[in-house]
Amino acid sequence: MNEEDIYRMIADPGPEEDAIQEQVTLVSAEVRRRALDPPLLGDISVPDGYAHVTGDCGDSMEVFLAIRDRRIRQARFDTLGCGFTLACGSMAMEMAEGETVSDAMRIDAKKIALALGGLPATHEHCADLATEALRKAIQDYLFRGNEPWKKLYRNR
Ligand code: FES
Repeated sequence: MNEEDIYRMIADPGPEEDAIQEQVTLVSAEVRRRALDPPLLGDISVPDGYAHVTGDCGDSMEVFLAIRDRRIRQARFDTLGCGFTLACGSMAMEMAEGETVSDAMRIDAKKIALALGGLPATHEHCADLATEALRKAIQDYLFRGNEPWKKLYRNR
């Protein structure tokens, strides 16, 4: 099974899944679960922190944060990316929700990959994309800290 097979299986698991079951361990159960039905996929209509990041591979991710008293109350993401990106975005949002903004800034690609049960080397950058999008959304919130009214006038 090559990389394309893994991706196809994540995007569209079918009868061939049994035939390649032996190779499925290359993709953790947590990655598969989140790629197929990603928790926290969505948006927040007037976010306190927002970012839209495009990675070197061309995939992109948006992050929306609702923040009160410097704590992330809600985190949502959307992506034009692969199944691994869906899994990474979903995990990053889950790790960020409930955290203070300073603790959420410490979430990194390694922690996301670990929580997912590992990522293939060819898709470690998907966790980088989720990390960067989360951090930029937090920075957006911090940048607008003294002028919260500005969030009503941004594009998102
Ligand atoms: Fe590029 Fe997933 S393949 S972020």
